[in-house]
Amino acid sequence: MRYTDKVVLITGGSKGIGKGCVQSFVAAGANVVFCARNAAEGESLARELHATFVQCDVSDTEQLRSLVDTTIEKHGRLDCLINNAGWHPPHKPIDDFSIEEFRDLLELNLVSIFAACKFSLPHLRQTKGNIINLSSLVGIIGQLHATAYVPTKGAIIAIDEAEHGVRVNSVSPGNVYTPLWQEAIDAASDPEQCRADGEAAQLLGRMGTIEEVGKLCLFIAAEATFTTGVDHIISGGAELGYGRKTRQ
Ligand SMILES: NC(=O)c1ccc[n+]([C@@H]2O[C@H](COP(=O)([O-])OP(=O)(O)OC[C@H]3O[C@@H](n4cnc5c(N)ncnc54)[C@H](O)[C@@H]3O)[C@@H](O)[C@H]2O)c1
Repeated sequence: MRYTDKVVLITGGSKGIGKGCVQSFVAAGANVVFCARNAAEGESLARELHATFVQCDVSDTEQLRSLVDTTIEKHGRLDCLINNAGWHPPHKPIDDFSIEEFRDLLELNLVSIFAACKFSLPHLRQTKGNIINLSSLVGIIGQLHATAYVPTKGAIIAIDEAEHGVRVNSVSPGNVYTPLWQEAIDAASDPEQCRADGEAAQLLGRMGTIEEVGKLCLFIAAEATFTTGVDHIISGGAELGYGRKTRQ
């Protein structure tokens, strides 16, 4: 797959799925700009992969605006926006989530995507480019003790700008092994069991890799030119197979 000389902006590209996207798009010949909050990590990856790093907290709208401006100043165009930066808080019942925590998560996982789309669309309409939002399988099937996270993911599936020739798709991963997943393993009372359960949730018996998600995003941007408004599940079959869900 080639995406030669196209310009791609990826939020949260310093590690995890965002890093997988940076790797895939650079390998396909694209000019990649990515952001994260941690400058040292971002700059070192940018040097390694020949991409451009911009320090930006996506929860801050003005920083997001200047991220898009910097991309245009550097490359003169934008072909693809990948809204990947996001966070899954540790699992807990709704009683233990404060309203403030929920508001902060909405800013990070949802408002930032609205803002990044808004700032990028004038440029994407010129190139008839595309947007890919990193949603989640649980945005469709739900998840226990994730009442704050699930709505932020369900809200970013399948919007579209077709009248301007801009395609908008989402990608919904199941369990993909990333630093975010490692955080959950480290926080578990039985880390080994937590990792084993994470692997066993898929029919394929393992978690996905950041490379597999990066390649799907590249396929959507570079090859799936008649595809818009679609949520692309990449889950190893985690949602399939009717079975027992409660202990009785
Ligand atoms: N890993 C999974 O199993 C999984 C499953 C479904 C959906 N997702 C979604 O995929 C996306 C990436 O997840 P991941 O597992 O790679 O996470 P991760 O924590 O491993 O990496 C997240 C990236 O986003 C960046 N980031 C976080 N907050 C930021 C902020 N405020 N401003 C700028 N950058 C910020 C981090 O620096 C990092 O580069 C998230 O939106 C997540 O909800 C992940």
